[in-house]
Amino acid sequence: MTPLIIALPGNEVLAARLATAIGAQAAAAEFRRFPDGESYLRLHGEFSRRSVVLVSTLDRPDDKFLPLAFTAATAREMGASRVGLIAPYLAYMRQDRRFHSGEAITSRIFAAELSAIVDWLIAVDPHLHRISSLSEIYRIPTKTVHAAPLLSAWIGREVLLPLLIGPDQESAQWVSEVAHDAGAPFVVLEKHRKSDTEVEISVPDIARWRDHTPVLIDDIVSTGRTMIETLGQLRQAGMKPAVCVGVHAVFAGSAFDALRAAGAARIVTTNTIPHETNAIDVAQILGEAALTLF
Ligand code: R5P
Repeated sequence: MTPLIIALPGNEVLAARLATAIGAQAAAAEFRRFPDGESYLRLHGEFSRRSVVLVSTLDRPDDKFLPLAFTAATAREMGASRVGLIAPYLAYMRQDRRFHSGEAITSRIFAAELSAIVDWLIAVDPHLHRISSLSEIYRIPTKTVHAAPLLSAWIGREVLLPLLIGPDQESAQWVSEVAHDAGAPFVVLEKHRKSDTEVEISVPDIARWRDHTPVLIDDIVSTGRTMIETLGQLRQAGMKPAVCVGVHAVFAGSAFDALRAAGAARIVTTNTIPHETNAIDVAQILGEAALTLF
């Protein structure tokens, strides 16, 4: 039977592309808030014995989790055989250990909650650092989709003589992969995070690449501080204005304006989170992954 796809609010464009990619039928869902702030949800369509795919990117996750839980539960009550989730950006992947006594290890708690409401999960480049794979914390089948080939292709098409720059040692592996595919050299920086909004960056000697265009690549652009600090260091080193490429356009608060003001030549992201910088489409690779989990 044709699978059904439901776009949670804000995910309509990507969900429509995914429906085409996987041959799914869109199911209409009405979401609204009651005056007291509680959620109202109504699903339309025939769900009996159908496989259901929910599409909900999970930046600003605290507001999105309950509507997602209500949708998954209601689809099941209406007879869905399986309910999966495509979360192009998967939240709560950074607090993966207790740094100070009493802190919540939110990645584990969130993973347990999500595992309780859906049968499978697909995400694009989740922030895997101390956790090496989603299966360490999720107890449902998961699939990680990599945007690296898409970033390489974009850089290869759009940037003449690129020098790729990764933010920290943890990024070295995937930055080297993007660089290899784009046929470009790369360097990785030393990064020290002083607080949620402060980072210290040191750039190695890159004078020999002064004729190249620096391309900063990062998985998440959140406060933008990593990229902003790096832009400053590159300017001091006499490099050309840099292109900033991020997978996930989180852009907390005024981060986007601050990054523009810091002198980025161009700011580009994938469409895992809708944003005006989206220029790299992940629908096809997400669709291919979904077809393996039905
Ligand atoms: C950190 O490990 C990530 O890869 C990013 O570098 C980080 O999330 C960027 O955050 P911000 O934009 O707040 O500097």
